[in-house]
Amino acid sequence: MVKGRIFSGMQPSGNFHLGNYLGALSNWVKLQHEYECFFCIVDWHALTSSFEDPSRLPDYIHNMALDWLSAGLDPEKNRIFIQSHVKEHAELHLLLSMMTPLSWLERVPTYKDKLQQLGEQGKDINTYGFLGYPVLMTADIILYKADTVPVGEDQLPHLELAREMVRRFNFIYKQEVFPEPKGYIGAAPVVPGIDGRKMSKSYGNEIPFAASPEELRARVRLMVTDPQRIKRTDPGRPEICPVFTFHKLYSPAELGEIETDCRNAGIGCVDCKKRLAEHMVEALADIHHRRQDWAARPNDVKDILENGAKRARETAQATMEQVRSVMHMG
Ligand code: AMP
Ligand code: TRP
Repeated sequence: MVKGRIFSGMQPSGNFHLGNYLGALSNWVKLQHEYECFFCIVDWHALTSSFEDPSRLPDYIHNMALDWLSAGLDPEKNRIFIQSHVKEHAELHLLLSMMTPLSWLERVPTYKDKLQQLGEQGKDINTYGFLGYPVLMTADIILYKADTVPVGEDQLPHLELAREMVRRFNFIYKQEVFPEPKGYIGAAPVVPGIDGRKMSKSYGNEIPFAASPEELRARVRLMVTDPQRIKRTDPGRPEICPVFTFHKLYSPAELGEIETDCRNAGIGCVDCKKRLAEHMVEALADIHHRRQDWAARPNDVKDILENGAKRARETAQATMEQVRSVMHMG
């Protein structure tokens, strides 16, 4: 039995990393068997920070499709598509923007954080579109009446806003048009980067999803560990060590042993990282092979995205008919 409907999306920004994979995509792959799923490459969202030079977007979109397909998303079962190919996202965004209080948007924590972060990099995105980012995200989700949204923890404030928007819409138009979407957080809510902070391209601490085995080993070798473990004989604290966080995901069979060895200084950080790197190389090898296969079939990838948009549009159009009707829009 289908458990419900999923919508999730990612911005094609050309930096797909293990945080994205472990925090979000790997859950999509798992949940695709239990839910009816819509997975969207949100190119309009990407424009909020790249409107001045969108020339690389087509390339980023293609690469994101390759990442998703090689990770194991089934293009027959799911609707995999590009946001701007389903214009209903824009229409619903516009209608929602009419009823979104500005104060709701200004208090979304990611808003000020990102403005500041990009400001530090010399980028000014104090725009109407950027303020409305979570409104567009709400439109994405509710256009398909999705009830479940698998994302990393950093997206939860956006989902809180989406739920408020749904309540407001249903209240104003006196009809339960939309269900309230809830987040789905998997086993890795916040994946650390090699410096121990949240993995993010803006920190330069990422492990690229498409990293070669050599690159993977090199990135793991650079990972920080328990700062109090200075000498090889010092006992370690796995609970605060980013390497152990990855072991939890990549070395389930040896986890107990690694934990004990770390606490007793039975294994050094260098060897502990080597073991991790080999597990990661092995786990990612299949994905990398599949990526090469998909990369050799660009026309098939294009067809998948076109077909995905066609199927998504059917659901989107049905929702918009209902929305227009309750809003007396013809
Ligand atoms: P982004 O590339 O930041 O737009 O994120 C795309 C998806 O990956 C979202 O669902 C994020 O929550 C998730 N994500 C990004 N970075 C991380 C991370 N370090 N840990 C967990 N999830 C993440
Ligand atoms: N804001 C999300 C991110 O940066 C991307 C996104 C856009 C999204 N629309 C969405 C995620 C709808 C889930 C549902 O990762």
